[in-house]
Amino acid sequence: MEEKSVWIQIEVNGIQYKQLINTKDTLLEVLREKIGLKGTKEGCGSGHCGACTVLLDGKPVNSCMLLGVQADNKKIMTIEGMAIEGRLHPIQEAFVEEHAVQCGFCTPGMVMSSKALLDKNAAPSDEEIREALSGNACRCTGYTKIIKAVKRAATKMHSEGEAR
Ligand code: FES
Ligand code: FES
Repeated sequence: MEEKSVWIQIEVNGIQYKQLINTKDTLLEVLREKIGLKGTKEGCGSGHCGACTVLLDGKPVNSCMLLGVQADNKKIMTIEGMAIEGRLHPIQEAFVEEHAVQCGFCTPGMVMSSKALLDKNAAPSDEEIREALSGNACRCTGYTKIIKAVKRAATKMHSEGEAR
């Protein structure tokens, strides 16, 4: 593809951005470098680790594998959009409470994939959680605590009526 500068319009965490980008910029680069949201992490840069997971129109995607132009006129949600008015989202709370965060590098991507799962399945089984998080790698936790955190989040969201 020939490189050139183009304007895109994207909604990120409920805010509209009109952004001048290069046609070769990935969505990850647009989010981190152009818009300045550094919560989404770059791990492998090749679609294998899930550290860069964001929601695109509600579906989890590896933002390192999409071009910014592919997000034109789309809605993106990043980890920065999860907490509301200074309060962590129940999924984030559950990750902390279950000690599912160690170095934290995988956590933004894990949380976004978990949100996509819980938005469509309010009470997932362990197997369904494993499947939903199969594209997200964690080098620290051994995954057991992450599975427990997602289950805890499901319970919290159900009992507190806090699905957002
Ligand atoms: Fe995108 Fe690893 S940084 S999948
Ligand atoms: Fe370190 Fe998951 S907590 S990679």
